[in-house]
Amino acid sequence: MEPGRAGRLLLLGVSLTSALCGASTHPVSAAGAAAPAPLEDPYLKNGRAVYFTHCAACHGERGQGDGASAAGFATKPSNLADGRLMNPLPDEFLANVIQRGGSAEGLSPGMPAFAQYLGETQIRDVIAYVRSLASPPFASLTVPALVTVPGAPHQPIFFSHLIHAGKYQIACQYCHADARRSEYAGLPSVERCMGCHKIIGAQDNPEIGKIHDYWRRGQPIPWVRIFKLPEFTYFPHKAHVRAGLECGTCHGPIERMRRVGGPTGPSLVNDLLNLVGLKPPPRPLTMGWCVTCHRRENARPGVKAPLDCVTCHH
Ligand code: HEC
Ligand code: HEC
Ligand code: HEC
Ligand code: HEC
Ligand code: HEC
Ligand code: HEC
Repeated sequence: MEPGRAGRLLLLGVSLTSALCGASTHPVSAAGAAAPAPLEDPYLKNGRAVYFTHCAACHGERGQGDGASAAGFATKPSNLADGRLMNPLPDEFLANVIQRGGSAEGLSPGMPAFAQYLGETQIRDVIAYVRSLASPPFASLTVPALVTVPGAPHQPIFFSHLIHAGKYQIACQYCHADARRSEYAGLPSVERCMGCHKIIGAQDNPEIGKIHDYWRRGQPIPWVRIFKLPEFTYFPHKAHVRAGLECGTCHGPIERMRRVGGPTGPSLVNDLLNLVGLKPPPRPLTMGWCVTCHRRENARPGVKAPLDCVTCHH
């Protein structure tokens, strides 16, 4: 069986459990969305011309990843007509891949960069054409925008939540498996990555090659920590996840980030707004943020979120 297919079959199984983390409902459920637009549309006509000149050799005449050159690639050219996988990806992501190549999003460099050959308009048109091939059909209004957090750190491996949690809908708790049962949400072990990447991307994607390197050396991946409270505080994930709070309530739309970041901690702007009496909402991960939510939640019957100092400060 070819690797891409093995991965996808596995993922279909995984995505059945994705209901655990409510933030990742499939955006493309609008049944009966518009049929593929007719080719008289001038954008589509231009896009089609670009597609047949530059893309069809690899991605195939109908976008299904079965072009004449496809067989030569370890990571197969994507099936651009698979709406289930392609529709959740924002234009900005597709444009970046087309312009700067697969590696710009951590994908295989088998997808070449076209910046030298295609201008912005041509890229926009070819995206419109690729969208028109999708089944189930693409409906632009249901695509959530990419979220770029300023200052998000570079990680030792370009791991994209947009691809894993957004495109493939892998459940948050498949990887962050401790969130329900312990203080920490936890990060996946190298073994967990290898469960999929022993095969997927192993031969020609250097970012995935790095996973194999850590695995061979028996080393954990040194991920850079992002959401972090000071040592003198106590925050248990378990209580919050079991109370039904979604990950995104506190972490933002992680499944739309190619790089995770968080606007956390005190900020000068907030302090100044407070000073002039404007009372902005407290910044995430500050004490005011915890306490504000606890007060609000305590209005719900049966909820007992602590307000006493010692529960959060042991
Ligand atoms: C030389 C072969 C080749 C050509 C030519 C090529 N691609 Fe690709 N493309 C690939 C491969 C291989 C991948 C898979 C990368 C991966 O999954 O790691 C890919 C992936 C993509 C993706 C990412 C989709 C996803 O799964 O996230 C897009 C979008 C894309 N190609 C669009 C295009 C467009 C548009 C053109 C023409 C302008 C084009 N490609 C030309 C080989 C090619
Ligand atoms: C395939 C595994 C995988 C899936 C699925 C996944 N994550 Fe992650 N997550 C990671 C890895 C690896 C990191 C560390 C690298 C990084 O920050 O991108 C991480 C980092 C994070 C962080 C930052 C941790 C820190 O250092 O503060 C948060 C928050 C997070 N994930 C939330 C989520 C949410 C919410 C979802 C579901 C929408 C999700 N993750 C789905 C693997 C995964
Ligand atoms: C009520 C807010 C809240 C919710 C809900 C929440 N988190 Fe967190 N998360 C935090 C805070 C606060 C931290 C920093 C904790 C610390 O430094 O002790 C954190 C840290 C993390 C980390 C890095 C440290 C660790 O615990 O491993 C990951 C990964 C993470 N969260 C993932 C998730 C995932 C996945 C979910 C959903 C299943 C989730 N979080 C739900 C507030 C939340
Ligand atoms: C349940 C299966 C699964 C697991 C577990 C998994 N991945 Fe992936 N990963 C995929 C699939 C599918 C792709 C898309 C491959 C492609 O299109 O080229 C992918 C793509 C990638 C890529 C290239 C695109 C990107 O995200 O930048 C990297 C790097 C990657 N994975 C790293 C990791 C790491 C690190 C872990 C463990 C923390 C991990 N993966 C866990 C299925 C998985
Ligand atoms: C979005 C709302 C929300 C935010 C933000 C939030 N909490 Fe909570 N917290 C809750 C709820 C709901 C409960 C559970 C109440 C229950 O189980 O009855 C809870 C419970 C707790 C508990 C009690 C755990 C237990 O075992 O009984 C602690 C400790 C706690 N939170 C600490 C924090 C800290 C520290 C922060 C800020 C870093 C924080 N929380 C932010 C909603 C929130
Ligand atoms: C719901 C959890 C929670 C409760 C209840 C809570 N705190 Fe905090 N507190 C935090 C968190 C999280 C921080 C760290 C983030 C920050 O500095 O805003 C913090 C920070 C602090 C700091 C350091 C502030 C600084 O500027 O460095 C002090 C002092 C403090 N708390 C005292 C108290 C006292 C006194 C009480 C009881 C009246 C209390 N806290 C109740 C969560 C809590």
